[in-house]
Amino acid sequence: MARRDPHSYADDSQLQTASFALTARVDFATQTLAAEVVLTFREPGRGALDLDTRDLAIESIEDATGHAVAFVVHRPEPHLGSRLAIDIREVTPSIRIRYRTSPEASALQWLGPAQTRGGVHPYLFSQCQAIHARSLVPLQDTPRLRVRYTAELVIPRALRAVMAAADRGRTESGELATHRFEMPQPIPPYLFAFAVGDLASRELSPRCRVWAEPAVVDAAAYEFAGVEAMIESAEALFGPYEWERFDILTMPPAFPYGGMENPRLTFITPTVIAGDRSLVSVVAHELAHSWTGNLVTNANAEHFWLNEGFTMYAERRIVEAIEGVEMATLSAALGRRELDESIARFKDRPAMTRLRTHLDGIDPDECYSLIPYEKGYMFLTAIEAAVGRPAFARWLRTYLDTFRFGAITTEDFEAHLEAALPGALAKVDARTWLDGEGLPPNAVTLVSTRLEAIEKLAGAVPPRDLVATWSATEWSLFLETVPRPAPEATLRALDDQFALTASTNYDVLVAWLTLALKSGYRAVMPRVEQVVAEVGRMKYLRPLYTALAADPSTRDQAVALFAKHRAAYHPIARQMVEGVLASAPRP
Ligand code: BES
Ligand code: ZN
Repeated sequence: MARRDPHSYADDSQLQTASFALTARVDFATQTLAAEVVLTFREPGRGALDLDTRDLAIESIEDATGHAVAFVVHRPEPHLGSRLAIDIREVTPSIRIRYRTSPEASALQWLGPAQTRGGVHPYLFSQCQAIHARSLVPLQDTPRLRVRYTAELVIPRALRAVMAAADRGRTESGELATHRFEMPQPIPPYLFAFAVGDLASRELSPRCRVWAEPAVVDAAAYEFAGVEAMIESAEALFGPYEWERFDILTMPPAFPYGGMENPRLTFITPTVIAGDRSLVSVVAHELAHSWTGNLVTNANAEHFWLNEGFTMYAERRIVEAIEGVEMATLSAALGRRELDESIARFKDRPAMTRLRTHLDGIDPDECYSLIPYEKGYMFLTAIEAAVGRPAFARWLRTYLDTFRFGAITTEDFEAHLEAALPGALAKVDARTWLDGEGLPPNAVTLVSTRLEAIEKLAGAVPPRDLVATWSATEWSLFLETVPRPAPEATLRALDDQFALTASTNYDVLVAWLTLALKSGYRAVMPRVEQVVAEVGRMKYLRPLYTALAADPSTRDQAVALFAKHRAAYHPIARQMVEGVLASAPRP
């Protein structure tokens, strides 16, 4: 037996799935999918086959000739789900599995009409990263194995289905519609994704289209109008875009992440729609994953930094190309602060502050943080500084080329870099970066006059002429640097002069609200209550609930607010807030 991913039952010595064909009927009434999947193997074969499942009701399994195949669904193990042990007696090119998903499927969020902008139709979306694909499809749910797929979704006729795949048409019959999709490029299972709802779209360029609820689609089209220019910048930096289309799905506010790099159809939180394109670096980030993550994929969650650290680097290179080096530096400076905060948050679990982690028995959602992002970014910029940008850029292109459509470990990365740029790893003391805790001392220092101007303020109310030129990133940075608790007079002056409580930029708004809460400035409470009611993005829920729970005078409100909105949050966000409330110091 050779299980090489701590989060999967997939066994290297068994048959390997090359593609799947899924048919699923989406039933909003029971919040289930009634489904059938044909798994086709790389080569016909037989023997034991272990698949990952979670909360699936397996009804039958048969081989390509229609003969029943014996199987056992094992008891669920924490985080992993249930091993579906299949015993294939006769050589077969494929097996067919009939099953149903559970209303608790961890990859799905079913929204009632009240949770949508339109308020009329229900909505469904999937989020498979890190290990939730198994709650939708019984498969070998490890990024070590890539699959192609076709899918057919049967949905209510009034709705539309979109998928991170090529659209192969829709037919209607009676009350139902059938959407067909095909994913020609092989993907790790965590990139399987779809949504069903009242959706409209606008074309942004020949290869980009934005999808959203009808009431949001024009605002989304305005916000994301620059996406084609971003792709062109990214191609100049990292090579041709390999996924043909780059469409964007603007999610309902309950989406727990900022973005998710589902290939051909990136999912983006509606909180990015600030009205002034000031938060579109989230799109640059998800686009960057088209190279770092989707083309070159971490072999399992222990090497997650290979996905996210490289993507932060690529994101900031795109931002630099489009908005200039100063904006990229400010973004890195903000990342630096967020990294310090994350490392502090993990002070009791310092092993989680390493880039290369050991996650046996650990749920990847539960140890999610910005550490692999920002420490990974800093590690790569340290290498870049050591070898020079031209050599680093050349290496990066060969790295992407060598491992394209593959899955790699940190060891593969080390070996490739050492061969291409001998001595570079030693020069930056890579082992300390990869296997050490916290932050190594040899980080690159960020130089920027705009950054200095913010630091010089040291939290004092900034003069109006300075602020006139500030970007949203500078506002966020400034608010992060205000020492807390801040004096009430400072907070009142900031809000009076700059209307921060009314900000339409969620990054700025939440940085402000967090600062205010941590300073006991209660005037912001109504706005805080609004934000935790209307938004499910964890990046915002975490600091707000943390600040509310840390203060004895608002702790009960934190508990009450969570009780009120719990049902509307995504299961992953719910789990995160529960953790925040449980670990807050009690009076
Ligand atoms: N792939 C991640 C989101 C993710 C990570 C989902 C792990 C599930 C498990 C995505 O690319 C991401 O990093 N999103 C960030 C965007 C930000 C860094 C610009 C987010 O959601 O905040
Ligand atoms: Zn990412």
